[in-house]
Amino acid sequence: MKKLYAILFMLLCFQCIYAQKGWSLICNGQPWYDTQGNPVQAHGGNFLIEDGIVYMVGEDRSHSWHPDVNLYHSRDFEVWEYDGKIIENGVTTPELGTTRMIERPKLLHCPKTGRYVIWCHYEASDYSASEVGVFSSERITGPYQLEWCGRPLGIKSRDCNVFTDNDGTAYFISTIEENQHLGLFRLSDDYIRPLECTVLMRGLRREAPAIVRVDSLYYMLSSACTGWEPNQCMLSTSSSLTEGWSPLVPVGDKTAYDTQASSILTLSKGRHTQYLYVGDRWKDPDLPQSKIILMPIGLKDGKCDFPYTETFRLNFRKALVRP
Ligand code: DGJ
Repeated sequence: MKKLYAILFMLLCFQCIYAQKGWSLICNGQPWYDTQGNPVQAHGGNFLIEDGIVYMVGEDRSHSWHPDVNLYHSRDFEVWEYDGKIIENGVTTPELGTTRMIERPKLLHCPKTGRYVIWCHYEASDYSASEVGVFSSERITGPYQLEWCGRPLGIKSRDCNVFTDNDGTAYFISTIEENQHLGLFRLSDDYIRPLECTVLMRGLRREAPAIVRVDSLYYMLSSACTGWEPNQCMLSTSSSLTEGWSPLVPVGDKTAYDTQASSILTLSKGRHTQYLYVGDRWKDPDLPQSKIILMPIGLKDGKCDFPYTETFRLNFRKALVRP
């Protein structure tokens, strides 16, 4: 009898261990650490998934006012290995000095050239430059070289993001003309140059835009411009990127749970898709310690279901979440 209990107990343990396998615990509000025990510095960034590996790029705000750009990778969203500083203020572009503020770096992989391309807000200390910086590299880990920096098509540009459509066309979207409108820039097929700009949400003063496509509908989340203070996240949808965006509707709570969007992450396995809101909890308690926040969201029938989730388990390989 004792033997039978022992076997049953072992089976139970095995089942528990197996059930946990692949499920990473995401605890919002807690700092993330890399495998060397250092706090992860990747604010305002995005994720790129290749061959079962998720790469995370973002601002290194250890030096607060003049961020560099860090790259990390993980196979499960829990263990993050540091790949290094892929853009270093004053080092990658010594000719431009050390006073640039690199914000919201976004990583793309260009199928035509095979190169990795980073678009970012490339600002002067008083936000008067309103420029972008575009960097590229043959390998994801670098070295990255500056392709160009300045105002895209001569237009003042600040908070930004990128979006790649199903046909491979990439777009840069940013807050333009002193935060008045959003500008949607269609990019050249090497993802380096803006070709044309369509003005969206004229006069609505939106920033932190993040676009995702679900079937034939585009969803855009954005915030108002309130500096580092959080505000209401709003949703707009359209069946065309360049026109027909619906009026803004609020999602989540009044402060997006004390965050501002940095991207929307799409995880897919077979026919199953899971969307994750990726945001920054800025100044928690100071800029370098701003937290990365991940929350599962539902995007369906033109609506965004964005409940508060403090902790959850994520199975990256299976694109599943559970409490
Ligand atoms: C909010 C933006 O989203 C951030 O990227 C940063 O530019 C701050 N404003 C600066 O106040």
